[in-house]
Formats: sequence, structure tokens, C-alpha cells
Amino acid sequence: MEQNHIKKLIESAFSVRGLAYAPYSGFSVGAALLAADGRVFCGCNIENAAFSPSICAERAAISQAISAGCREFAAVAVCGGPMERGAGEIDYCYPCGLCRQVLMEFCPPELPVYVARSAGDYRRHRLVDLLPHAFSAADLSGGGVGGCGC
Ligand code: THU
Repeated sequence: MEQNHIKKLIESAFSVRGLAYAPYSGFSVGAALLAADGRVFCGCNIENAAFSPSICAERAAISQAISAGCREFAAVAVCGGPMERGAGEIDYCYPCGLCRQVLMEFCPPELPVYVARSAGDYRRHRLVDLLPHAFSAADLSGGGVGGCGC
């Protein structure tokens, strides 16, 4: 993926991060999911007083995409940190385990995951490296090789 496309995707993640509803943790996260057709779906974390109903930015973004009929993805950018800190002041924010599993349901294992401190300071990982031996539909039919190992 070209450098300026990565930068734009990260900027989208930072932009939606500004809309995060995170009054309980004070930790705001933004995710921007690039679809194979070039569309970008964004999500921020949305917390809840009951805590459990809270949703992460990555899953908010994927919900937007799936609800728009989009199921093919090329990359995702994630940024997050304490609300009062902006680009360059936050650390790399990695997708939580639940979000990795949800991304794996719809995205290719090779999906580039960009975790960013700013548009020019990011790390690139493959989804499969963040979630090796993922449980998948293949496991349900006994055909998986990864498996959950439970
Ligand atoms: N959060 C995300 O939005 N994505 C992640 O992958 C990690 C955590 C949110 C959830 C919660 O609202 C806040 O960050 C603190 O955990």
C-alpha cells in the first residue's frame, strides 16, 4: 500500500477518534477500515454505564461496513490513547483480542493492521501475526488446522 494512502487511512482513524464516547475510561480510540473497493468505514469506541455493552472502535467500524454490504477489506488503521492526548502524544494502540477475532471473521489473514501514534509514525502488522491459530468457520466443520486448542 502506498505511503500516502496509509497516511490518509490513519488520518481517518484520528478524525473519528475525536468522536469517541469514552466517559468511563477516558481512553478514546478510532479505527478506519479500508474496503477492497476503496471505501473507508470508520468507528470509534462507544462506552456504556453498564460497561459490558461498550463497543470498541474496530468493531464499530466493521459493523458500519457489514451493514453497508461491504465484506472485502484491504487494511485497517487504529489509534487510541487518553482523550487529552493527540497525535504524536499517544502510544501504539493494538486491537483487543475480541476485535482481532472479529476482524479475522471478515478479513484476509494477511490484512495489514496499522497501529499509529500519528500519520507519520506507525507500525504495520499482519492480522494473522496478531491472532495466530485463530478459531474460524473451518474449525466448526472439523476442517481447521489452527483450532482454539480448548
Ligand atoms: N478499545 C477499543 O476501542 N479498541 C481496542 O481494541 C482496545 C480498547 C476501547 C474500549 C474502551 O472503551 C477503551 O478503549 C478502554 O479499554
